[in-house]
Amino acid sequence: MADTVQPVTMDTIVSLCRRRGFVFPSSEIYGGLGSTYDYGHYGVLTKNNIRSLWFRAMVQEREDIVALDSAIILNPSVWEASGHVAGFNDPLVDCRTCKLRFRADQLELASCGRKPSKRPGETPDCDLTEPRQFNLMFETHVGALQDESSAAYLRPETAQGIFINFKNVAQLARRKPPFGIAQVGKSFRNEITPGNFLFRVREFEQMEMEFFVPPADAMQWFGYWLEQRLGWHRSLGLRESNLRVREHDDSERSHYSSATSDIEYLYPIGWQELEGVANRGDFDLTQHTQHSGTKLEWIDPDGNRYTPHVIEPAVSIERIFVALLCDAYHEEVVGDRERVVLRLHPQVAPVKAAILPLVPRDEGMATRARALYEELRRHHVVEHDDSGQIGRRYRRQDEIGTPWAFTVDEQTLQDETVTVRDRDSLAQERLPIGGVRSWLDDALERDWSSPSSG
Ligand code: GAP
Repeated sequence: MADTVQPVTMDTIVSLCRRRGFVFPSSEIYGGLGSTYDYGHYGVLTKNNIRSLWFRAMVQEREDIVALDSAIILNPSVWEASGHVAGFNDPLVDCRTCKLRFRADQLELASCGRKPSKRPGETPDCDLTEPRQFNLMFETHVGALQDESSAAYLRPETAQGIFINFKNVAQLARRKPPFGIAQVGKSFRNEITPGNFLFRVREFEQMEMEFFVPPADAMQWFGYWLEQRLGWHRSLGLRESNLRVREHDDSERSHYSSATSDIEYLYPIGWQELEGVANRGDFDLTQHTQHSGTKLEWIDPDGNRYTPHVIEPAVSIERIFVALLCDAYHEEVVGDRERVVLRLHPQVAPVKAAILPLVPRDEGMATRARALYEELRRHHVVEHDDSGQIGRRYRRQDEIGTPWAFTVDEQTLQDETVTVRDRDSLAQERLPIGGVRSWLDDALERDWSSPSSG
């Protein structure tokens, strides 16, 4: 098998997602809406897997973290207190000639509207305005009136929904610091320079966890969570050579943060933030205490009061989705045929196994394959495929990352065994048909790492 691993381009991933129905541009029949996407069947299944693996690691397997699902539209005072109304801005410049708008701090990454080989400002025709601040929150109105008093925002992060519930959760869930609150949900940002497929979109699903700790322990927990999160990304099979940690310097850190490190992935567009881990100190709880008048603090058994400090790992499903697909994508020559294979971690793969009758018109094979499919689908997402040559059916499954295929053939009719084909090694072995279910259960629980080097 010749593995022709080339650095994958974003266009290749976009076209695979499109071709196999993972992701399509949204509102396509109306010409689309900039950087907004809809997920098809395999995309939904993959996202569900990413979300539930995160939830398993962050909530289910821990005693010190509880779940929350707060509203998307919160009282607008929340965003005054958090600093988003005043400070969640990008600096923008407009070009009076080509009428395009650019981020003033990223002009070196942008292309001139008239001469895409040049940067904005580089041609004699470019006529850029002075930078001005542009708030990234989407505004909406609550109720029948549309005036200033009814203005509200779609949340730009899920974190604030957690801070404003600190008191409720600490009391009702009977937790004491150190403990965490985890939330998954949509966030919205009116990004000025969205793009690179799902990497920077205006509507995305964040997975955030706020971990409340005694102030003296904050930096220790910061280190702990950075390691935990890096380990989690490795456990999904992302290759070591494509992951690194980058510490923010003073000028880069958000207003609330006393330490931030990004876990970066080597996307086709270069090293970029996959997940951020921040020490937010007591900024948020203090701000909400001052603005709401409700004390968000902790009183220990000796009666000492303190405002917990917060360590926050924050990531979006979209950034993980793109990283996983880029890492998994391979083109190979097997024999004299090319195949595209997605070497996804089996727990991430949208379909866990395919059930294939070798000769679909053979009634014995067709009946057994159907029965096996109906048994397995009660426990796992599996597919039954009886259309086309067997080689083509294998390739269809390789392209969506299905780790195993169970083929019902002539021998099955004699000894009630099937072949299982491994997506990565292409090895085949025979199993009793009655043992397929438990074989698949065990295989899905095994540790997995990418067979590709690095
Ligand atoms: N609560 C902290 C916070 O929201 P952030 O660095 O702005 O921090 C956290 O966002 C994570 O959310 C990022 O590391 C990234 O994974 C994801 N993210 C942010 N903006 C995004 C966008 N426009 N599209 C996709 N994912 C985004």
